[in-house]
Amino acid sequence: MINLILLGLPGAGKGTASERIVDKFHLTHISTGDMFREAMANKTKVGLEAKSYIDKGNLVPDEVTAKLVEERLSQPDITEGFILDGFPRTTNQAELLDGILDRLHKPLTSVISLEVAESTLVERLSARFMCKECGATYNKLSKKPKVEGTCDRCGSHEFYQREDDKPEVVKNRLEVNEKMNAPLKDYYDQKGLLTVIDGERAPEEVFEDIDKVLSNK
Ligand code: AP5
Ligand code: MG
Ligand code: ZN
Repeated sequence: MINLILLGLPGAGKGTASERIVDKFHLTHISTGDMFREAMANKTKVGLEAKSYIDKGNLVPDEVTAKLVEERLSQPDITEGFILDGFPRTTNQAELLDGILDRLHKPLTSVISLEVAESTLVERLSARFMCKECGATYNKLSKKPKVEGTCDRCGSHEFYQREDDKPEVVKNRLEVNEKMNAPLKDYYDQKGLLTVIDGERAPEEVFEDIDKVLSNK
């Protein structure tokens, strides 16, 4: 059983690494950002509340996010373990998560932090685009669809840029997340769970290191 947290600033490659981890280890991928975007698209109560924070690059209140995560982790499909991508983001959320995992009897096995320089993050986020139909992630610089204008995964021809990838929002998002990042890493380092990985390399190389950490569990 692998119960993993992936830490990393916006654009560090958490989603990209998660896809590869899911392929190999069959873990359930839980991205709070993806869950919020789905809730926003469906205009649910949580979605409408979250939108006012997300579109400005601020954090959704801890209690709202933690409740969403607890509900998701309580579902029966998590058989081989999970990846938490984008949660926790504050030490308060980390403490809330400890409570959730205690209640569900699912201990953490690893915390991996993907480290990428800020200039690279800005470059990646401004070049990212998404499939409107299935949410697949692309990048103008590093990951174009195999056939231009056609989604590799679902064949759709419609793409969009995330609202929070616009330059004015990216700046605030990075600031907000950077402030929380060091204490969060300390929190898991003190528990002996943290591995730091250089996320500045090609996705295959980053995954090779992640694979080594997870294969030792
Ligand atoms: P979320 O969707 O989680 O956004 P984020 O943390 O800002 O992270 P991203 O999804 O932008 O980046 P990523 O690390 O997944 O990178 P990716 O693999 O896509 O959250 C959105 C918002 O929701 C938050 O701002 C907040 O408002 C709210 N929220 C979510 N969780 C919350 C919480 N816990 N508490 C409160 N609020 C919360 O890669 C980025 C790009 O780079 C892609 O184009 C990709 O193709 C490319 N790329 C990736 N890896 C590489 C590589 N190695 N080399 C070259 N290019 C690469
Ligand atoms: Mg992501
Ligand atoms: Zn698609």
